[in-house]
Amino acid sequence: MNKKFAFQASGYYCKNFDEVEYMHNQLICVNENGMIEKVFNEDDIEYKKTLFKYRDNNQLHVLKDDEIMLPGFVDLHIHAPQWAQSGTALDKPLEVWLDEYTFPLEARFKDLDFAKEVYEDVVDITLKNGTTTGVYFATVDREASVLLAKICGEKGQRGFVGKVAMDDPAGCPDYYKDFDGKSSITETENFIKDVLKLKDNYEQKVYPVITPRFIPSCTNESLEGLGKLAKKYDVHIQTHASESDWAHGFVKEKLGKNDVKALWEFGLMGEKSMVAHAPFLEDADLEIMIASKTTIAHCPLSNAYFANAVLPVKEFHSRGINIGLATDISGGYSPSIYHGIRQAVISSKMLQDGVNPRLDKKIRGRKNAAITLNNAFYLATVAGGKALGIPVGKLEKGYAFDVQIINTKENIPRFYKEKHPEDLLHKVLLLAQTGNIKDVWVQGRNTHE
Ligand code: GUN
Ligand code: FE
Repeated sequence: MNKKFAFQASGYYCKNFDEVEYMHNQLICVNENGMIEKVFNEDDIEYKKTLFKYRDNNQLHVLKDDEIMLPGFVDLHIHAPQWAQSGTALDKPLEVWLDEYTFPLEARFKDLDFAKEVYEDVVDITLKNGTTTGVYFATVDREASVLLAKICGEKGQRGFVGKVAMDDPAGCPDYYKDFDGKSSITETENFIKDVLKLKDNYEQKVYPVITPRFIPSCTNESLEGLGKLAKKYDVHIQTHASESDWAHGFVKEKLGKNDVKALWEFGLMGEKSMVAHAPFLEDADLEIMIASKTTIAHCPLSNAYFANAVLPVKEFHSRGINIGLATDISGGYSPSIYHGIRQAVISSKMLQDGVNPRLDKKIRGRKNAAITLNNAFYLATVAGGKALGIPVGKLEKGYAFDVQIINTKENIPRFYKEKHPEDLLHKVLLLAQTGNIKDVWVQGRNTHE
């Protein structure tokens, strides 16, 4: 158990999809469990008294004038083993990249020394980039996947980790797959039990996630069994859906229906489910997404390479679908959710205006598709917490103290006081580099110490 403490800080978080709350010099009080228990404004009568109390007890942190506080980011979809190949082979199509690069790399993770080396590095680097919660795909190998959960736990990151289930001989290489449908289910069940045993060893907790890779690599037998496990253990579920022309078409051909419908029938869609990518969802799929309350993990950087399309974030959000943000390492090359925020906005603007200058502007784009930086900041914080059903993403009473302390002096132009407080947030979201992220706290603990 930690000591109580308080921060005197200015900062920003999203009140909702469109609006940001600017906190000026507030006093944020954190309890022994790393939860925000009170927030005082400068004009609250108790502000000064409380501040002095924390100061006198040596429990007060005061941000410098050029520092701000932001909520930590939730990376809703990241392949931890693929960090080893980030920046590689992105000019290949998805299906070639999987066969020639990704599966051979992931197969190496049965070597626990190699797994440890890569997994420690990916957790370090994502923490350095402000990711306080990571929702990870590991690999087929159970032991190495449990190791990833342990590493998240020990380094202080809130990790949601899945052992990848893939058993269909027609869709997996023989050197990298579960032995068969039955073992795909029992290995996943054993993995869930292993991680549940670890879960409470860490203040911020680690969680098991049921992880069928995607329908092309799974048999009906395993998908059905995994659906039953989801019910039995009430844990989170993650997979890929309708990612690219190839992936979307492959499933239609394999099962005679779209992947979202099949996942729904197998009991794999629900409040605790996350499907990555999903730009090709059709109207009937959207209805299932809405009815099941499944979240989309939006991977804008990866989509620019592999997806052949841009996710219509604004439309799907307005229809009531929760959408969080993700790096999709290594389909997306960057471990930084800042890059995800930037690409989400850029892609949406290009979707709105269209990209082919030979077409008339009336038919070039898709109306009303552009999202704002505030929207993208919401996806990276509040929407991630909502997807996982945990209180993270806001700097409010009742939320976990998961924050990043940003130095706004370097790499960011500060020649005058910004016209509006939000202008500084936008400069940070667009220009901050890893070096600007001074400290990253998870559940009241500074992971940089
Ligand atoms: N579909 C199935 N596996 C993968 C993967 O590892 N990355 C991406 N982007 N899509 C996938
Ligand atoms: Fe992925």
